Amino acid sequence: MAQRVTAAASLKTAAAGSAAPVEPGARAEAAARPGDAGWPREGPLVDQFGRVVRKLRISVTDRCNFRCVYCMPEDVRFMPAEVHLTFDEIERVVRIMAPLGVRKLRLTGGEPLLRPGLPDLVARLAAVPGIESVSMTTNGFFLAQQARALKQAGLVGINISLDTLDRDRFIQIARRDYLQRVLEGIRAAEEAGFEAVKINCVVMRGVNEHEIETFLRWARERPFIVRFIEFMPLDGDNIWERRMVFSAEEILDIARTIGEVVPEDGDPSEPARRYRFADGRGTFGIIASVTRPFCAHCDRVRLTADGKIRNCLFALEEHDLRDLLRGGASDEEIEQAIRRAVWVKWAGHLINMPEFVKPARTMHAIGG
Ligand code: 5AD
Ligand code: SF4
Repeated sequence: MAQRVTAAASLKTAAAGSAAPVEPGARAEAAARPGDAGWPREGPLVDQFGRVVRKLRISVTDRCNFRCVYCMPEDVRFMPAEVHLTFDEIERVVRIMAPLGVRKLRLTGGEPLLRPGLPDLVARLAAVPGIESVSMTTNGFFLAQQARALKQAGLVGINISLDTLDRDRFIQIARRDYLQRVLEGIRAAEEAGFEAVKINCVVMRGVNEHEIETFLRWARERPFIVRFIEFMPLDGDNIWERRMVFSAEEILDIARTIGEVVPEDGDPSEPARRYRFADGRGTFGIIASVTRPFCAHCDRVRLTADGKIRNCLFALEEHDLRDLLRGGASDEEIEQAIRRAVWVKWAGHLINMPEFVKPARTMHAIGG
């Protein structure tokens, strides 16, 4: 136990250097919090700021076989399995939401592949009319065994978390000696022929920023997109400090030492801004949740493994569907509960404001 505490503490003290600068406008973005007035009973799923929900992220379990320091504590209490929505319940929610305009699904966890039979769920969700794509975010551990079955089931995109290519650092971050397994998983995903394989790399100052250049060079040789993610205050050990945020601007400065960087026109609802090297070799993305919040363009909501709608990663309130699903509610009643949960979404998170309150759930229980 003492050793674990030390590991977290050493990460914290390792973060030397300046605080990440915040883009102008980032602070003003978020302050308003809407009241709970009348939501539209029909039409697309909208909130009070006119944002329309097109994407649903579904966490299928809060369990994980890794213990990434930015996500959960070592000694974590998982939910009892019976609170997890069943595949039938998840499919029912998706069948209710698809006619309201939800088009894209992403399965998350914890580690989604710890949930037995996941390819079946993928196939069921991909078959729901209106659903255009089902993707997944995974730690990669089980991909060597499951990539092919997932592809056959209709999974189109896969995001694999990998923060370091150094074995010791991997152990420091994920608290497990699994780097080789993840690399094998990435290879299996490439071989299975997914439309998009993306590598998600959370950058923490003093921990792994030295590897940004290596990742970029790797992405120039290999067919996948690396996405660097600013460290967000959703960790389990309370190690997050603003000075640990290695900012989008700093990441770009490193990329520019490799070659000329050109921003790509992207879909503004995508959290990652895309860039490519002018020489045509390699694209990468940056998810700058802290220094450039993209809340104004957000088009997603989340369903937690225990059946709550979270309208924002940083939401402090949740909207339960499980009791409705298990208590004999009609589709219409569930639809209206979802509409209300979306309607009351706030303008944006408050990470850059003094009144920021860290959500009680850490990332593994929210669904990444
Ligand atoms: N900050 C940024 N990204 C995080 N993730 C998990 N916790 C954090 C955090 N505190 C990312 C993981 C994974 C996805 C599920 O969320 O790297 O790619
Ligand atoms: Fe597991 Fe992903 Fe959290 Fe790491 S970030 S502990 S792999 S859920």
